[in-house]
Amino acid sequence: MLVIENLTKRYGKFLAVDNLNLHIEKGEIFGFVGPNGAGKTTTMKIVCGLLDATSGNVTIDGVDALKNSDDIKRKVGYVPDFFGVYDNLKTMEYMEFFGSMYGMSKEDVDEIADGLLELVNLSDKKDVFVDTLSRGMKQRLCVARALIHNPDLLVLDEPNSGLDPRARFEMKEVLKNLGAMGKTIIISSHILPELSEMCTSIGIMDKGHLITSGHVDEIMNESGGNSKIHIRIADMHGTEKSQPDKTEMTDSIDLEADDNAAAKQEKLKEDTYSRDKDRIQTLLMEQPNVTKVKFTEDEIIVSFNGDEKASATLLKNIIGLGINVSAFYKEKEDLESLFLEITDGGADE
Ligand SMILES: Nc1ncnc2c1ncn2[C@@H]1O[C@H](COP(=O)(O)OP(=O)(O)OP(=O)(O)O)[C@@H](O)[C@H]1O
Ligand SMILES: [Mg+2]
Repeated sequence: MLVIENLTKRYGKFLAVDNLNLHIEKGEIFGFVGPNGAGKTTTMKIVCGLLDATSGNVTIDGVDALKNSDDIKRKVGYVPDFFGVYDNLKTMEYMEFFGSMYGMSKEDVDEIADGLLELVNLSDKKDVFVDTLSRGMKQRLCVARALIHNPDLLVLDEPNSGLDPRARFEMKEVLKNLGAMGKTIIISSHILPELSEMCTSIGIMDKGHLITSGHVDEIMNESGGNSKIHIRIADMHGTEKSQPDKTEMTDSIDLEADDNAAAKQEKLKEDTYSRDKDRIQTLLMEQPNVTKVKFTEDEIIVSFNGDEKASATLLKNIIGLGINVSAFYKEKEDLESLFLEITDGGADE
């Protein structure tokens, strides 16, 4: 449906989109994820014919989007990241205003707009000034407006930003319904878990590059299936260095000797603690499937690339080594941390 090939966009010397390649099939809900400045808005605007590309090809249903921006605007509905100001326009007038831009008659717009406002749950706001709508309502009105000319492709730039959980949920429902109607949808966000729930596929972009794209499961697998295992060790706390109790400290010279003794004791504890740490670190690193071992304040986090059976073996092994395990659990495979890992680790500048 949408094919992007070697798309590059420079703003002056600044490279905002770098040789991007992407295919999106008809009926897909594609989530475009990336941190601020990744190039999401730039790419989306080019796809919608609102911004010129520096080089590359974009086709929508075989139509060259870079050369036929008027045709493309009929095929595409765009929901920008900012709503804009519309003094003195009521909701229905706002829909009529956008419909007229596509050459639609008032009657046609009214009929279609009725259905669209119902779809986005704004039927009771037809005669309200748009500037008085809440943010969530404005976002949904934007979606309705972008659908007025019945486009095949809907491009939404962060439709969920600034929405409360209820409004996010409602937006998600609207988009799922549109997906069920067979529309192809591209939606951008900073929040990967949110998109993963409603998207059929996602692309992760950072610094102008598409780092990875595909179905969420595929991306999770590609990332090596690395998981994190949290381990607590009972006697680590016994040897853990403790803070001296400041309330007992005085300026008295008599107590100086005691202080010295306490400091020595502290030092001893610290040494034992770091020796234990080193020992445990070495033992853990020797275990199969363990790629990294990190000590935090009160637990050990082990990066692990084995399956369930392998993690059971790990637990058995470390108990067998005489380590006093008090807790052992696998962190739930978390999309947010995957996203952070990918965008952080993927940067090459
Ligand atoms: N008109 C412009 N002139 C110069 N640089 C621009 C312009 N528009 C965007 N950029 C730069 O291009 C890069 C990509 O911007 P873009 O808006 O596409 O990012 P984004 O992924 O949408 O970010 P955000 O998540 O913050 O919306 C940024 O570094 C931005 O500063
Ligand atoms: Mg943006």
